[in-house]
Amino acid sequence: VPVGILISGRGSNMQALVAASRQEGAPYRVALVASDKPEAAGLAWAAAHGIPTFAVSPKGIGKAAYEAEIDQAMREAGVAVIALAGYMRLLSPDFVASWSGRIINIHPSLLPLYKGLDTHARAIAAGEAQAGCSVHVVTEQLDDGEVLGQARVAILPGDDADALAARVLVEEHRLYPQVLAEFVTR
Ligand code: GRF
Repeated sequence: VPVGILISGRGSNMQALVAASRQEGAPYRVALVASDKPEAAGLAWAAAHGIPTFAVSPKGIGKAAYEAEIDQAMREAGVAVIALAGYMRLLSPDFVASWSGRIINIHPSLLPLYKGLDTHARAIAAGEAQAGCSVHVVTEQLDDGEVLGQARVAILPGDDADALAARVLVEEHRLYPQVLAEFVTR
């Protein structure tokens, strides 16, 4: 199944998806890595690893034209499922509707807790015993939609947001390829 990945930055989850897609018997391949940030570090990594890339900034052209370009690039690449991986924009209801249930995202919290930004700092401040990450179907609501899989991480005494984020990220890299493989074959 051809998958398109949308990133805005470093792209470590994208790298985990690419690595998994290159294992024997993987049910998906990464057909395109696209970004709203032409300078995203993950784009250079993808290009260096032989994956088609596409970048367009919404600055100056507006959200509708920007999304039309992303949509066209995904469709030209034959993409069937879009995986958001550190993509820092909210997709419009029209874009989400036109991919009808075929966009998924990874979010660094145990949804439905801590939607939005600064998830780890908020979980620590609230005195939670556990944090984690969730892969979910994208709807027009931020960090909403059916939860497809989660991984839990204990919050340790003395944890700050960065230390916790690093441990959760390890679990993200394990969880996302596994859930995407299940999603494309369901
Ligand atoms: C990850 O923690 C992801 O859950 C969140 O943004 C971060 C992206 O990291 N949505 P990377 O770009 O995949 O390295």
